[in-house]
Amino acid sequence: MGRVEELQQQTVWKSDPHTQVKHLVYRHYLQCWMAKILQKFPEATIVDCFAGPGIYSDGLAGSPIVVARTFLEHSANEKFSRLNLICLEERADRVEELRRQVAKLPRSPKLNIQVLPPGTFAEQQPRLSALAHRPRPNVPVLWLIDPFRLKSAPFSLIRQCMAGPRDEVLFTLFTNELHRFCEREHFDKAMTPYFGGDHWRAAVAGDRRARTRKEAFSAAYQDGLKALGLFSSDFGVEISSQSARYHLILATHSEAGLKCWAPMAWKLDSYSGEGASADSLDALTLFGEEAVESRLDAALRNYAGTEQRWETLSSQAARLNYMDKHLRKSLSDLASKGLAFRVSPVDARSAWPEGCTVRFYAPQDLVDEAS
Ligand SMILES: C[S@@+](CC[C@H](N)C(=O)[O-])C[C@H]1O[C@@H](n2cnc3c(N)ncnc32)[C@H](O)[C@@H]1O
Repeated sequence: MGRVEELQQQTVWKSDPHTQVKHLVYRHYLQCWMAKILQKFPEATIVDCFAGPGIYSDGLAGSPIVVARTFLEHSANEKFSRLNLICLEERADRVEELRRQVAKLPRSPKLNIQVLPPGTFAEQQPRLSALAHRPRPNVPVLWLIDPFRLKSAPFSLIRQCMAGPRDEVLFTLFTNELHRFCEREHFDKAMTPYFGGDHWRAAVAGDRRARTRKEAFSAAYQDGLKALGLFSSDFGVEISSQSARYHLILATHSEAGLKCWAPMAWKLDSYSGEGASADSLDALTLFGEEAVESRLDAALRNYAGTEQRWETLSSQAARLNYMDKHLRKSLSDLASKGLAFRVSPVDARSAWPEGCTVRFYAPQDLVDEAS
């Protein structure tokens, strides 16, 4: 049986390396998200909108079980507040299997799992939204949106999922399909609702090489999110040396939301912090120092002639998918060249403490005018 028939006909199907990477992204992100959110707010919700059967035929756990286990096995679980996990799946046989898998989990009074009757995301989104936000006003909600097909998750629905002030979406963007089919006749009928506008056309008109164009689609999608005033970041899930099969996109209302994304990206792809190759999972390397320096350094050099607060620099780093430790290293490199100075506090135990203010200079500022 081919892959497509397997996905259509079987209740459970075999996992693949991309699924492994996707779940690693979920796990790393959730580890951080739970530690931050469930120790700050009295309650939070995760909605798995395309939940699947909760298990793969080769034994890999499905996404709802990954979420539940990340919660139950988290080292800070004792300090956590309550987590509501709401699962939606279209097919009755998969809902039944998911209920079986959920029933096998250890019970916890702080983890409330609700597997809804079979239903589609488009029809059920308003109900999911009401359920997710019911516990209390402004409850943080993380939406996992991982469909099989483009048309199941149009941009209008993603926008609805982001309606609450603490809603976040983790979305699977089909960059490979977009790249392969974007020049087919009538495909624009699918693209425009998927992107919520025709800004995707710039990616089609640009460089046609696979990697570049897939990244352009991801950037275009994020432009749509930015137009709504949201912050976003992406992560390409790749096989071997090929370009990404899909991109995982995080959309969030707060820059603080990106703070959990960069550490995940760096852990999974220590070279660039932008994507993971499925076959490099067992061989994660140490940081590629040149890659760490270049993009962030370039952004910091643009501050020449100004003074910046730590919060601004840290946000800038997060937007570029870097962590505070990378920022500190880049600042130290600039400082060693005389291009960055901490102006306050005057006394500090470390070079770049949180809350510090940094003044930046350009290389030409160092030229001795008398020479
Ligand atoms: C990519 S799989 C989800 C895999 C799961 N998130 C995981 O990582 O283990 C997509 C699932 O969504 C279901 N599905 C397809 N269309 C749907 C829709 N419109 N609404 C809800 N579920 C749907 C499929 O039956 C399938 O089980």
